[in-house]
Amino acid sequence: METKIIVIRSDREELSLEEEAGLREAGEVIKNGGLVAFPTETVYGLGGDALNPESSKKIYAAKGRPSDNPLIVHIGRLEDLDLLTDHVPEEAEKLAAAFWPGPLTMILEKSRKVPYETTGGLDTVAVRMPSDPVARKLIAYSGGYVAAPSANLSGKPSPTVARYVIEDMMGRIDAIVDGGEGEIGLESTIVDLTVAPPQILRPGYITGRMLEDALQAPVETDVTILKDDSGQAPKAPGMKYRHYAPKGDLVIVEGTSEQVISYINERAAADMAAGGKVGVIATGEQASRYRASVIKSVGSRRDENSIAKHLYTVLREFDDEGVTQIYSEGFDTDGFGQAIMNRLLKAAGHKVVRL
Ligand code: TXA
Ligand code: MG
Repeated sequence: METKIIVIRSDREELSLEEEAGLREAGEVIKNGGLVAFPTETVYGLGGDALNPESSKKIYAAKGRPSDNPLIVHIGRLEDLDLLTDHVPEEAEKLAAAFWPGPLTMILEKSRKVPYETTGGLDTVAVRMPSDPVARKLIAYSGGYVAAPSANLSGKPSPTVARYVIEDMMGRIDAIVDGGEGEIGLESTIVDLTVAPPQILRPGYITGRMLEDALQAPVETDVTILKDDSGQAPKAPGMKYRHYAPKGDLVIVEGTSEQVISYINERAAADMAAGGKVGVIATGEQASRYRASVIKSVGSRRDENSIAKHLYTVLREFDDEGVTQIYSEGFDTDGFGQAIMNRLLKAAGHKVVRL
């Protein structure tokens, strides 16, 4: 299959005529049952018509993803929620008012209009209204309901730049909208509103605290988010897969800065002596103190947003550079840090050294 690339370089709110036409054409592709990858404020999505079972099947095939892993339905207008569910709970209205459009996905009871192919056989549906203007335009041109998982091959880190969408999806889908880098860099927060109290199934930029403030009520968090030994299956089916995995063996090292730096330097020296290519995921504050084959600064310890934004790209770059062993500093698990550590722990298969 030939994959068309639609490049957006203008300010996202003011597209050129050519860019606008490209998005309109991409919307037609989705309406006609095709697949288009597109940027959102979190990560790139791989979009198809959410109401067309054949489109959802194609999405699973293009990603190489197990079909029991449900898709998120992206909408552009609040009133479009009514077709997806027969029951909009009061919590959904409050959370939509506070965080939509934005990086929050809500799980609701699904209506009969939503095919089981889209929900992986579940009676619930995940819905998100993204804020990225390019994503919003594409959703409108596509008829309003776009099912979109992250636009990576199953098992790879989610793409935050078009280069990695092209690497994974070229020849597998109809078009890719290249719209630069996502603002947030990690996937949306998922909150299940079909249970009481509501439960966070995947942490993201919108934290439990923010949800509780908006609801003025408690919100729980799935216990499997930061642990692998809870003996329980995660409630979001996709969270059980070892996603986000780099090719090199990744270990997270926790302790004081001095402990972490000297441990990593010692291990890196030994690994390199044994012929390994060693990468370090460092914060900018400490990057110059490591000795390894490749040292990457992921962001600043004082700015979690910068770490989130670059984490997946750093993991992908280590793959490109053929690194065999990776050591990473650990991060705080408060607030947005919980999402960063959740993704990093999954990438590491929960291998952590605590000094
Ligand atoms: O930020 C995002 O959410 C990105 C962008 C493209 O919007 N999308 C994304 O989709 O991360 P995906 O498919 O990579 O992850 C969706 C997650 C999976 O873990 C899936 O199991 C969970 O959402 N999910 C979807 N529907 C669900 C449902 N009905 N019940 C529980 N979990 C659900
Ligand atoms: Mg994904």
